Amino acid sequence: MEIFYTQQALDLFLEKQRNQGKKVALVPTMGALHEGHISLIEFAKPLADCIVCSIFVNPTQFNDPKDLEKYPRPIERDIELLENAACDVLFMPSAEEMYPQNDEKWEIDLGNLDQIWEGEHRPGHFQGVTQIVYKLFKLVKPDMACFGQKDFQQVMVIQKMIDIKNLPVQLIICPTVRSDEGLALSSRNERLSAQGLETALILSKTLNFIKANFGEVNITELKALAIDQLNADKEVALEYFAICETTTLEEAKEILPGKKYVALVVAKIDQVRLIDNMLLN
Ligand code: PAJ
Repeated sequence: MEIFYTQQALDLFLEKQRNQGKKVALVPTMGALHEGHISLIEFAKPLADCIVCSIFVNPTQFNDPKDLEKYPRPIERDIELLENAACDVLFMPSAEEMYPQNDEKWEIDLGNLDQIWEGEHRPGHFQGVTQIVYKLFKLVKPDMACFGQKDFQQVMVIQKMIDIKNLPVQLIICPTVRSDEGLALSSRNERLSAQGLETALILSKTLNFIKANFGEVNITELKALAIDQLNADKEVALEYFAICETTTLEEAKEILPGKKYVALVVAKIDQVRLIDNMLLN
């Protein structure tokens, strides 16, 4: 695997790849890699000839500076995982490399997607995400970019940015990788106690229950049942649960023909903020 630390070195290498007619796939990450991240690389393999994984803990998407500081950076292990996955390129820039001017401005009109759910609970988060992903797209010029369904709203936000900026990138949404018991893999799971890991299973159990009953029970009742299930365990501090139309992420009041729906959930367990979702139809 080639490892690059600067935009210039990466650009030189990728220029050659493109000139040889190779298709390039980008997998952006913040490191602390697990099977969920690696699955994005596996997904890209049959579709592209050169897979670029980026590891950059992007300061502009953190609302809490303490979170940024605390973010795990097990870089040697990450490199080993990427080598084992036969990833072609790792791009690992410094903050100075990506943001040479500290006060750089970025603003993109994401509409309601920036105001609801994660947008509401983490103000400015999606501006930071789009800022760095835009920079990576402009640099790597990938034919395709892989993102996890795990962060459903993030995927919708990236698609919106691609549309607004008219970028020639195909967005590939990869399924959420879960533990055998159903917990969506996340680097944050490591901060859960043994009890917390048990408790956290309620998220995927509730989502599965909603999916199984979708269309059988009306949406308002279904949502109330889910919230009751989640609140029944006092170890679960529910932030939100919602059943939404997939493109606008607006809350559904009824099921309309031809529309797709997704259930979104965020809860804190052991003070760890966990996020999950499930497509319902
Ligand atoms: P990060 O949290 O490191 O996630 C990188 C990618 O891995 C995202 O597309 C995320 O949805 C995906 N992912 C995480 N857990 C997953 C799982 N269990 N199954 C499948 N995919 C999973 O998301 C970010 O970084 C950042 O916001 C980023 C896009 C890199 C911009 O800084």
